[in-house]
Amino acid sequence: MAATSMDQLVALCKRRGFIFQNADIYGGMQGVYDYGPLGVELKNNLRQAWWRAMVYERDDIEGLDAAILTNRKVLKYSGHEDTFSDPMTDCRKCKGRFRADHIKDGKCPNCGSTDLTEPRPFNLMFKTMTGPVENPENLAYLRPETAQAIFTQFKNVVDATSRKLPFGIAQIGKSFRNEITPRNFIFRVREFEQAELEFFVKPGEDEKWHEYWKQNRIAWWKEQGLSEENMHIYTTPQEDLAHYAKACCDIEYRFPHGMEELEGIANRRDYDLGNHTKGQEEFSLEAHVHANPDSTQKLCIRDEENNNWIVPFVIEPSMGIERAVLAVLTEAYTEEDLGDGNSRIVLKLKKHLAPIKVAVIPLKKNHDGIMNKCHEIKQNLLKLGIGRVALENTGNIGKAYRRHDEVGTPLCITVDFETLENSPESVTVRDRDTMEQKRVNVADLPNFLRDYFLS
Ligand code: GAP
Repeated sequence: MAATSMDQLVALCKRRGFIFQNADIYGGMQGVYDYGPLGVELKNNLRQAWWRAMVYERDDIEGLDAAILTNRKVLKYSGHEDTFSDPMTDCRKCKGRFRADHIKDGKCPNCGSTDLTEPRPFNLMFKTMTGPVENPENLAYLRPETAQAIFTQFKNVVDATSRKLPFGIAQIGKSFRNEITPRNFIFRVREFEQAELEFFVKPGEDEKWHEYWKQNRIAWWKEQGLSEENMHIYTTPQEDLAHYAKACCDIEYRFPHGMEELEGIANRRDYDLGNHTKGQEEFSLEAHVHANPDSTQKLCIRDEENNNWIVPFVIEPSMGIERAVLAVLTEAYTEEDLGDGNSRIVLKLKKHLAPIKVAVIPLKKNHDGIMNKCHEIKQNLLKLGIGRVALENTGNIGKAYRRHDEVGTPLCITVDFETLENSPESVTVRDRDTMEQKRVNVADLPNFLRDYFLS
């Protein structure tokens, strides 16, 4: 049975150490979460899967890791200072503030009153000050998207790598938005992480590449375990497009609270590079580019066919790591009836995403011989580079299996008295999904696990 409620996921995430409310002991902070011992592993695995697909497996994408603190001018010329806002409505009765598009039938979502103000724009960017003096010249922002630094570093990356079109720059990092109503657990939060690719193409080839990235990203999500019937492509109507976009489609996922955006894939045309470029009159740019007297650079590249300098168009697949975490947990969460009056919760995560790859479990707690063998096996398995190998010392095999089912550990290895007595030494390997157990010689474990995890 798939997860039917967010409550089940929230409870599992807290119970097993995936996700905690930030500043829990002080009553929490709305829209801010911390990732626990298993959450940090799951996030790392998702980041790695994305980076591998974007950077390592391709020859046309470079990586970047830019700063979070953002020069005000970047967000002025990107259009975010003027337009990055949500319409906000106040309830005059309960004083609640809500996104205007979250109000149903003209009623306050909190108290039901119809005494609401007209919607007005609320800029979502977090402001801060750099340096010791609080004056407007020192105003900076926490970036609301990772994309802008990719645009402002475009020339440096091209100069350093001699890239030609088409090529991309990928980045994973924190973004911040002062959401009016953060909600649905980690779905809409104020501090989150984005994995963004800006793929630069020749103007005129943008629509072809937009379609290419749409298909590419759907295939990637399937590799992360999401089923086709739980995904949906939503094409944004022209009137709802972001200020920079020529076209956009969202990959939506059936989250516990409904079908909602998991990843956006936008055609940002030459909007950003054009707006950050000095001397734009030399280029043939789209009409949406505004004069920029502050930039010192031309963010352009030579068109190899005719030797002209052009400002490329950009296709941008952009996903939130938190939404990826929520989607793979939703898909993986399963309650199974074991047929003997018992049931189990099992997280059927793809093995490359599992926070713990292998649990090494002693049949008897604190038994020196068994524990020494467990340590030895763990050290040998670590050398394989498959990820986290956890060593237990609980002595209750049944409970350990249930706990590892709940956190999605694909394999449990049990060391028992036979391991010590038999020659050659052997252990029991138990599979999370089938619950089947088989004896494997200790000497064969590295090859067995290499085949299982790395093939
Ligand atoms: N650079 C383009 C951009 O930022 P977006 O649609 O605003 O576009 C891209 O955001 C992705 O970032 C979304 O599809 C979502 O996965 C994630 N995201 C955006 N706002 C978020 C929030 N408040 N909380 C969690 N994830 C968010």
